[in-house]
Amino acid sequence: MKLIESPQTETNPELLDDWFSLMGNWEQLVRLFTNLIGNALRYTPENGKVEVELMRVEITNRSLLQIKVKDNGIGIPSEALPRLFDRFYRVDPARSHGSGNTFTKNTAGSGLGLAICRAIIENHQGIIKIASSLGEGTTVTVSLPIILES
Ligand SMILES: Nc1ncnc2c1ncn2[C@@H]1O[C@H](COP(=O)(O)OP(=O)(O)OP(=O)(O)O)[C@@H](O)[C@H]1O
Ligand SMILES: [Mg+2]
Repeated sequence: MKLIESPQTETNPELLDDWFSLMGNWEQLVRLFTNLIGNALRYTPENGKVEVELMRVEITNRSLLQIKVKDNGIGIPSEALPRLFDRFYRVDPARSHGSGNTFTKNTAGSGLGLAICRAIIENHQGIIKIASSLGEGTTVTVSLPIILES
């Protein structure tokens, strides 16, 4: 896990204490990151790499936490990208055979993980983007506002 620290120019102690805090539903957010990191582990061979990065960003006067989950696993074909968030959609159930680490390689998914992630992100007024190349890996970027707008 890589934390991109606050800039040296930021001096407000309260803000610095809460630099990586946000308003949200704890259980849902745990589920969100369990699903995303679980995918990265499941679709990446044993000697591969999974990185998680956390950064606070300001976009049009709104503060957001941006979380990236990056793997160098099997990747996703571009034609599958638009369907990833569909319930029960899986790219090709056979292709994860032989990949994945010992913990996840024999456990078939249900294709619900990303649909659940999208619902949780919508609840938190956030956005999710998935960039991937087949055979090279996948980067999932989630941006969540720190304060929810009513
Ligand atoms: N990091 C990733 N690398 C490669 N393929 C991925 C990755 N994340 C998701 N996918 C592809 O997207 C499909 C949908 O993912 P999703 O998390 O919704 O379902 P699942 O992992 O198959 O099952 P579940 O999450 O319900 O256990 C997966 O079946 C897989 O083909
Ligand atoms: Mg999954």
